[in-house]
Amino acid sequence: MADSNTQKPNEVLKVVGGKPLKGSIKAAGAKNSITKLLVASLLSDKRCTFYNVPDIGDVEVTVALCKEIGMDVNWDKEAGVMEVQTKELRTSYIPQRFSGSNRIPILMIGALLSRTDEEIIVPTVGGCVLGPRPVDFHIAALEKLGAKIEYRRMKREGAYFAHAHDGLKGTVITLAFPSVGATENTILAGVTARGTTVIKNAAIEPEIVELILFLQKLGASITLDVDRTIHIQGTRRFYEVEHEVIPDRIEVASWGVAAIATKGRVFVEGAQHQNMLTFLNKIREVGGGFEVKNHGIEFFYDGPLQGGIHLETDVHPGFMTDWQQPFVVLLTQASGTSVVHETVYENRFGYTETLVEMGADITLFRQCLGGKECRFSSQAHAHSLIVNGPTPLNSAKITIPDLRAGFSYVMAAALAKEESIISGLTYLDRGYEKLDDKLMTLGADVTRTTDEECSHVSTEPSIEEEFAASFK
Ligand code: EPU
Repeated sequence: MADSNTQKPNEVLKVVGGKPLKGSIKAAGAKNSITKLLVASLLSDKRCTFYNVPDIGDVEVTVALCKEIGMDVNWDKEAGVMEVQTKELRTSYIPQRFSGSNRIPILMIGALLSRTDEEIIVPTVGGCVLGPRPVDFHIAALEKLGAKIEYRRMKREGAYFAHAHDGLKGTVITLAFPSVGATENTILAGVTARGTTVIKNAAIEPEIVELILFLQKLGASITLDVDRTIHIQGTRRFYEVEHEVIPDRIEVASWGVAAIATKGRVFVEGAQHQNMLTFLNKIREVGGGFEVKNHGIEFFYDGPLQGGIHLETDVHPGFMTDWQQPFVVLLTQASGTSVVHETVYENRFGYTETLVEMGADITLFRQCLGGKECRFSSQAHAHSLIVNGPTPLNSAKITIPDLRAGFSYVMAAALAKEESIISGLTYLDRGYEKLDDKLMTLGADVTRTTDEECSHVSTEPSIEEEFAASFK
């Protein structure tokens, strides 16, 4: 597979479908854990060593971002081991080129507030386009801890300017929604705040638990109660840390549904049962096969799939929103009518248009289908869908709109008989380690090549230059 550094924007993945995926692959370390752990390590000047680090685009970007700030990084990609240490901050200005890359820059505020007297400048946050994805919960929580944060608009882009010149002081923060990012940002700031910080209605995703475990090793006194409440006792005394990154439960689910949909059998080494509970229940409900083994989970086709299910995404311990897209492709192969209600993001069904073009029978609805009303019930977002199956899928020329949609397109292409051509691979390479290698190991017919038709040279002036000029 092309390295994310060397990957060209005009690369395409050619997939000739129709073959069952069969074999064994190893789950990579979780993107949504290691990227946060790297930011958390910025709280201290001590060395941190991470194991099972995935070689993916989002880690590359996060490393580049942390290096910019002053982190020394020694990354043995073959061994998956990364040693980092930030003895001193070089700058607290996050360059604009990181703004569209992922959701990490905004976490720099929580991590750096106590490490610098300078203003922390964070450009508008990016990430996959799944709705407006505001950061109001982050800002409100950090301000309650004593941070002063101002959003300044530039000509084309804006940035957050933050400082805590009067120090951070622990307090009780109740999040309006158990947002993963807002919980992380508040935890990071809470670690160095004076006194006790209490976060109510916190996100409790396994990746948050990992962050808490890491921070305890780093020196924080931190607890997680069963009622979504986190208590943090502030500290400035830190220790060296060694931490193993948990396997990526989104990747595990992706391979699981791909194995079952293509009528194959795939053992995902490293898959952790305790983080897959709701997913496995849904697999069983549609008649998919799985066996939890000692060192992973095997997924297999176990006869015709039965639809007629109701799937609702939710925060942990519910069915993850990031499992939804590949699961919908699975539902196109199950007989009967299934209902999917997306309650985490208001706009995460855009990718289904391409599936419909490929032959899927999917209709979107603005209402909350399935019985429970969510916070989008009075809004005009198409956040429920009905899928009728089974339907054969036809090959297509596809452009990936976001990371998880990307995998669902690879799955759809693996189901179609003829050759599909998938572009927009940067999204996939952000989150799936050695995707092409793993597909080939499982017997898929895939080739990564350059599509000359997609080549273009941008004549746009640099936003970075404009941004830097606008406040210097
Ligand atoms: N939200 C707000 N205001 C905020 C923060 C969030 O309204 O200040 C809303 C969002 O718009 C969204 C919901 O709350 O509707 C949940 O957002 P959350 O903050 O939980 O998501 P995130 O931290 O931005 C992380 C993952 C996502 C994953 C979600 C939910 C990372 C880098 N990203 O995003 O992963 O879908 O949590 O579990 O950890 C992916 O890996 O492809 C991905 C999108």
